[in-house]
Amino acid sequence: MTSNDPLLQPYQLKHLTLKNRVMSTSHEPAYSEDGMPKERYRLYHAEKAKGGMALTMTAGSAIVSRDSPAAFGNLHVYDDRIVPWLAELADACHEHDCKVMIQITHLGRRTGWNKADWLPVLSASPVREPAHRAFPKTIEAWDIERIVADYASAAQRCQAAGLDGIEFESYGHLMDGFWSPATNHRDDEFGGSLDNRLRFTDMVLDAVRTAVGEKFVVGIRMVADEDFEKGLSKEEGVEIARRLANSGKVDFLNIIRGSIETDAALTKVIPVTGMRSSPHLDFAGEVRAATKFPTFHAARISDVATARHAIATGKLDMVGMTRAHIADPYIVKKVMEGREHEIRPCVGATYCLDRIYEGGEALCVHNAATGREATIPHVIAKSEGPTKKVVVVGAGAGGLEAARVAAERGHEVTVLEASSQAGGQVRLATQNPRRKELIGIIDWRLAELDRLGVEIRYDTWAEKNDVLALAPDVVIVATGGLPQNPPLTAGDNLVTSSWDIMAGSVKPAENVLLYDDNGGHQGMGAAELIANSGAKLELVSPERFFAPEMGGLNHVPYMRAFHEKGVTVTINTRLRSVRRDGNQLIAELASDFADGWRAERRVDQVVVEHGTAPLDDLYLSLKPLSKNGGAIDYERLVNGGDIFPQRNQEGGFVVFRIGDAVASRNIHAAIYDGIRFGIRI
Ligand SMILES: Cc1cc2nc3c(=O)[nH]c(=O)nc-3n(C[C@H](O)[C@H](O)[C@H](O)COP(=O)(O)O)c2cc1C
Ligand code: SF4
Repeated sequence: MTSNDPLLQPYQLKHLTLKNRVMSTSHEPAYSEDGMPKERYRLYHAEKAKGGMALTMTAGSAIVSRDSPAAFGNLHVYDDRIVPWLAELADACHEHDCKVMIQITHLGRRTGWNKADWLPVLSASPVREPAHRAFPKTIEAWDIERIVADYASAAQRCQAAGLDGIEFESYGHLMDGFWSPATNHRDDEFGGSLDNRLRFTDMVLDAVRTAVGEKFVVGIRMVADEDFEKGLSKEEGVEIARRLANSGKVDFLNIIRGSIETDAALTKVIPVTGMRSSPHLDFAGEVRAATKFPTFHAARISDVATARHAIATGKLDMVGMTRAHIADPYIVKKVMEGREHEIRPCVGATYCLDRIYEGGEALCVHNAATGREATIPHVIAKSEGPTKKVVVVGAGAGGLEAARVAAERGHEVTVLEASSQAGGQVRLATQNPRRKELIGIIDWRLAELDRLGVEIRYDTWAEKNDVLALAPDVVIVATGGLPQNPPLTAGDNLVTSSWDIMAGSVKPAENVLLYDDNGGHQGMGAAELIANSGAKLELVSPERFFAPEMGGLNHVPYMRAFHEKGVTVTINTRLRSVRRDGNQLIAELASDFADGWRAERRVDQVVVEHGTAPLDDLYLSLKPLSKNGGAIDYERLVNGGDIFPQRNQEGGFVVFRIGDAVASRNIHAAIYDGIRFGIRI
């Protein structure tokens, strides 16, 4: 049956038929090995292809030249060795009729000089990019010649690999560095007039077209309005789009609005949780109307309704749902099968992107299979063994995930939850209204458990005998933890935990000191609530910068609130003790750096965040009665085989614990535990 869903209509791009309107825009997940897209990279894209999307734009800023060293695992498209790897990736996606393109670029000033071959960083003019902090040299004629040639040979490699096309990255990189008055101060034939500022782009386009011919799709992901005072204006940006569309040298425009030169600016291009949905969709639609040219765009179009609206109203030809597919690669398939409500939502946590800037690989906060396709399935298969009775204690993110996976395996699952609601620390985090969308992590799992027929017993504080009464084969202890104080020489009973502030059980006082040596969202969430309550707040951290466990993009909204509310941030300082003085408290501060340095603050309230201590009584009481004594065989967890060693012949069941019931960690760790152990039951 043919569908009349606008999202599912095919799109003809030159000679290519894209089977629907949904794509993943280019993003570097940092899964590359040695600059090559090997198995992990391939499986990641192949999963999206299986999930039904029409086009995956691979890589993120694959680099065309050696003097554009990888900033976050970028592919080396300057290296001939990439051709067979790209060919394998393309074949794996083509098998599912998903078209494959790649984004290529010269990063210009958006990288570092002290990487790879230690070659100098360059740009149209020597203007430093604050985010990557390299001082670039002014690009010279011989650089331009070789980089233009590099673009052409990189494009040829992509064509030789059987890809369906390429796009140039032209926002925040070398190419648009020439376009923008903020970064181009030249007075030669590459500066000044728009014609001159487009000269480098024209040279690249000519060289690439000569190299790949007319039949190969060549597009450009371009900024059409830098949206800051000194930057490229909307008028000039749209004019560039018009000229490119009329040039006959490009086949599509992929529209960006904003600048990426600081983390704060980047969050306007790639909004994080709590920021507007689809903020630049109308703008992209304006560019499409002005150019009447194939237009693609992505920026927080996370839900199917908005994506459908983007196509139905003619704002876009192809809609990018990039993080949405990191969270759920099966979006299109679910839409086609009438299972839209089963889509795992992208909650905008931006754990994925923050990780690559911290030198890690992209991982989704609540889909632990993404990027781990070789070992963790997105679609859970039924167990071939006998149906087991599984009891999960605790309905936080990890417990719900374990219950979901065990139920998908076909087991009979019961969840026991001490409180009247599921969600644990995720629900606590959503008490910060800006992060309320995170509740999607819990709500999606509750809906899945409902679909799978799993019973959740609320208001049930499970003791050993309550669990035993259920005659389980497997017990999963997901009881989480309770907040603990940092080590203090005195005043343990005088401090308030960040949890109490988040839960609302203790109101912020007028003058507050918040000490966070955990370094994640927990302390910052409480700080944001306190700041927004109108209190005077000093945030104290022993680290070199506050909240080092969270990445740069998540840092932005907190810092925005701290600046707006006049929060004082004190780093490199420890809380040593707290004592009472009349109606107030004296917080004594110390330094790791200068022995004997002390300072004091007189405040109404001292709030502390030092992670959690595991709530493990139940686990410890069940361990001696279990077959495995709580043990997991880590070798087999990684390499295959039964992960529960037989340590007690008398034991009646298998028990293990996950998430913060083991040790204080984060949402992803709890969910990863839930699935990686759950699939082994
Ligand atoms: C991990 C990650 C890496 C990214 N790297 C790139 C990149 O190299 N080049 C690029 O043009 N966009 C990159 N992006 C931006 C995405 O293409 C997209 O524009 C952005 O995620 C907003 O769309 P979304 O809200 O649908 O995710 C990246 C995004 C993520 C999440
Ligand atoms: S980490 Fe957050 S933003 Fe990234 S894909 Fe997952 S849910 Fe979306």
